[in-house]
Amino acid sequence: MQKKMMLVRIALAATLVLGLGGLSTAATGPLKAPAEQLIIAGKKPARFDHSVHLKLGLKCGTCHHDKDHKPLTAKAIAAMTDSSQLACVSCHNKSRPEMELQTKREVFHARCRSCHQKGYQGKKGPTNCSGCHLKHKSPPLEGC
Ligand code: HEC
Ligand code: HEC
Ligand code: HEC
Ligand code: HEC
Repeated sequence: MQKKMMLVRIALAATLVLGLGGLSTAATGPLKAPAEQLIIAGKKPARFDHSVHLKLGLKCGTCHHDKDHKPLTAKAIAAMTDSSQLACVSCHNKSRPEMELQTKREVFHARCRSCHQKGYQGKKGPTNCSGCHLKHKSPPLEGC
């Protein structure tokens, strides 16, 4: 009996860990900036930490906007039901020829790298490739 409960607990814990490990958690309810670092997936995965950037005083709308390119507020994001709407490539992709920035490289470098180069409030972000990109092609294992 005890042993069986234990196994159930282990299975539950494993599901939790696996569930949290994924980037696109199909979250329901009010969406807010994730507290933990994200790994932006692609051919050259890169790190992004909301808390580092929010501490600088940046507003959500510096990076997040709607289909008309109007900045999104924290309130507007909280009202969303699906975080996949926020994925930059959901709009910035080759199937939308009217978009100026159509690849991950273009859209992320335009937003991320250009600010790191210019600096914000006297602070500069990393501009060397390994400052954002992970050293290995495949995403790190759980917990790294
Ligand atoms: C400020 C952060 C940042 C810096 C610095 C940066 N990148 Fe990126 N780059 C990203 C992000 C975020 C992505 C999107 C992740 C992806 O596509 O794998 C990306 C995507 C790319 C891609 C496209 C990969 C794909 O999926 O098609 C290439 C190639 C690339 N970067 C090369 C470089 C090189 C080379 C350097 C250094 C000269 C560099 N990057 C510096 C953030 C950065
Ligand atoms: C400096 C840029 C930047 C700022 C500022 C910013 N975000 Fe983000 N946020 C991102 C990027 C990049 C992603 C990943 C998008 C992708 O994968 O295409 C993201 C993803 C998210 C996600 C989805 C997370 C997931 O697991 O799918 C939520 C929710 C979110 N942001 C909320 C917010 C809120 C709320 C604010 C303001 C309080 C905010 N963000 C400010 C850049 C930013
Ligand atoms: C709902 C659709 C949509 C989403 C999601 C989206 N964008 Fe955009 N973005 C647009 C539109 C529309 C424009 C303006 C038209 C153009 O420049 O092609 C634009 C323009 C831009 C520009 C060029 C103008 C500027 O503001 O400097 C950048 C950089 C950019 N987006 C970055 C991002 C990033 C980073 C994300 C994810 C955090 C993102 N976008 C998510 C629709 C979107
Ligand atoms: C408006 C300016 C601005 C934008 C946009 C921005 N950053 Fe930054 N970033 C900074 C500054 C400034 C720092 C240095 C923060 C510090 O020293 O406290 C930084 C630090 C970082 C760091 C190093 C700290 C850490 O988390 O380990 C990484 C990695 C990073 N940014 C990735 C990104 C990526 C990826 C994006 C785009 C999705 C992005 N940044 C967008 C300004 C910006």
